[in-house]
Amino acid sequence: MWYNNRMAHTNRFAVIAIAVCAAATTVGAQPAGPERESDDETVTVTLPAPDTAGSVTVERAISERRSVRQYAPGALTVAELGQLLYAAQGVTETRTGYRASPSAGATFPLELYAAVGDVDGLSAGLYRYVPASHELVSVSADDVRAALHDAALRQPMVRDAPVVLVMTGVTARTAGRYGERAERYVAMEAGHASQNVYLQATALGLGTVAVGAFDDRSIGQVLGVSADEQPLYLMPVGRRE
Ligand SMILES: Cc1cc2nc3c(=O)[nH]c(=O)nc-3n(C[C@H](O)[C@H](O)[C@H](O)COP(=O)(O)O)c2cc1C
Repeated sequence: MWYNNRMAHTNRFAVIAIAVCAAATTVGAQPAGPERESDDETVTVTLPAPDTAGSVTVERAISERRSVRQYAPGALTVAELGQLLYAAQGVTETRTGYRASPSAGATFPLELYAAVGDVDGLSAGLYRYVPASHELVSVSADDVRAALHDAALRQPMVRDAPVVLVMTGVTARTAGRYGERAERYVAMEAGHASQNVYLQATALGLGTVAVGAFDDRSIGQVLGVSADEQPLYLMPVGRRE
């Protein structure tokens, strides 16, 4: 019954933090580092360098990909979280800033958030991914998974997953170049990024599901974003059973 609409919650936005600084080159081996808190109290978490030479073939990841809605107990590592974010929107060519998934005219309308509940070395809270620096910036110190769960028709995996990725789109970035076609282009881009997350999760022995059934306004309130930024997907991620 994930297609019914429901009301949701608002969220307060305190900024806190913790952090992980890292230099690991393989997923699963991330040293914890010092907190980095700026003058305005924003906390930035430098993610471990992404792995670009994993051992699972793309063919195997494609053949084993499945939507997974129940997860084994256990936290994710920061390296795993960083790898998933990189797969979705990481910068793969520093010269141009081009990313892991294609973008119409390289206008990059997507934003990616991580609602963290249980990640080793990372405080619970809501974070925004910064592709250019492969960092997380804290948005809120609240664990917003319950609010996302309410906004997503109480689909249990949104409450239960150790992390929920939230993808949004700022259509205006693409509309400047493509006008009315931007709306469809942004939705297409969400599909590309989501499939990358699915395949990366599969390769890491994790499970995820693309969730499109939710109340847009309620999700926007949980994220604290303006109406210009449209929620597109939730992707709860946990360990595969
Ligand atoms: C646009 C879109 C929206 C979806 N929304 C939900 C959702 O809200 N909840 C859910 O459990 N699955 C959702 N799914 C996942 C589909 O149910 C799933 O892909 C389908 O059952 C096929 O299973 P598979 O992904 O394992 O191949 C969505 C998939 C897509 C592409």
